[in-house]
Amino acid sequence: MVKKLNVGVIGIGGIAGTHIPGWQKSPHAEIIAFCDILPEVLHRVSDQHDIALRYEDAREMIANPEIDVVDICTPNAFHAPYAIAALKAGKHVLCEKPLAPTPAEVLEMIAARDQSGKLLMTAQHFRFGNSAQALKAELDRGTLGDIYHARSWMLRRAAVPTRPGFIYKKNSGGGPCIDIGVHILDLTLWMMGHPKPVSVTGVTQDKLIHQAGSFSQWGRVPIPTDLDVEEFAAAFVRFDNGATLILEVSWMLHHNVPGGGSEDMQMWLYGTEGGAQWPKNELLASSNPTMQFLNTQLQLAPSNAEAHAQECIAFAEAIVEGRPSPVPPEESLPVARILDGLYRSAASGTEVALS
Ligand SMILES: NC(=O)c1ccc[n+]([C@@H]2O[C@H](COP(=O)([O-])OP(=O)(O)OC[C@H]3O[C@@H](n4cnc5c(N)ncnc54)[C@H](O)[C@@H]3O)[C@@H](O)[C@H]2O)c1
Repeated sequence: MVKKLNVGVIGIGGIAGTHIPGWQKSPHAEIIAFCDILPEVLHRVSDQHDIALRYEDAREMIANPEIDVVDICTPNAFHAPYAIAALKAGKHVLCEKPLAPTPAEVLEMIAARDQSGKLLMTAQHFRFGNSAQALKAELDRGTLGDIYHARSWMLRRAAVPTRPGFIYKKNSGGGPCIDIGVHILDLTLWMMGHPKPVSVTGVTQDKLIHQAGSFSQWGRVPIPTDLDVEEFAAAFVRFDNGATLILEVSWMLHHNVPGGGSEDMQMWLYGTEGGAQWPKNELLASSNPTMQFLNTQLQLAPSNAEAHAQECIAFAEAIVEGRPSPVPPEESLPVARILDGLYRSAASGTEVALS
């Protein structure tokens, strides 16, 4: 029998809870170690999953020669240092989004990946949902023709993740841009076929988040008043092929979320042969731009709740089959460049060119 990949997970808080079932379902991988700086969390979660190897220091876990794959689920500030250390130690690395808050760190991770010859993957689980997979397959058939414009948003109304890892720049690198903007931006660039972004005009706002009595509707949690990240951002992005994108993200906005939930996320793509909307996957195909149109909805498989698990399964499969990373860091670099450009444009009040 072929030996399974030994996985060590760093940061076993909220999101790790969605990775663990993925590793458990993979025929190619097995979790052998957990790491968390909080001993209470480390022992509670390790006991739950019967994991004997427990570390409070990530670098000790990374040094363990038994570990083949390191799965990084810590706050953003630790992504680059731990990924680079793990790659240098000869491990494959799956890293939560954002791969890193800045393009400079992503470039360092790519260099470490190149030196190691191992795989590095960003955990962009939206790509692994059934609706995204179905739409991507349709777009790869050229259904929309030349995609020349996109509108993408991920808008929450009073739904702020109040944990320190999200609301202080030193831990996160930014607010909703970095937290949820990376999801919709990554999905949009992937669907558009990764045109190269060349410039961005952006604004950020923090008008509601510091108001007295502001709370997050998730558990009616008060919002710490000393947080230093934006609550809203909007951007206009130009690509080298002439295509454009309008992006909007928020944790707090007086937005009417359809269905009364806490979050409205949509992507609209417009091409010469048709248009498409995600996540409903409505297709608007047109043989005559003004007269004939056809509305269809792509058939979706019943559930995409396992998208997080699917990304772990896909990563293990890629490693054992010698295939490329399912979400390579090169595809996270333009995401980081756009968001970095958005922040720089918001600060300068001008459009910025992206290198
Ligand atoms: N893909 C998604 O939909 C999604 C959703 C939520 C969070 N995330 C990402 O996952 C990461 C973690 O977010 P979360 O919601 O799980 O946060 P969390 O606060 O719930 O969990 C983080 C865990 O990491 C531990 N930790 C912190 N610093 C550490 C260190 N230096 N070494 C070891 N352990 C450390 C904490 O004690 C905690 O248990 C972030 O990068 C976030 O952007 C992704």
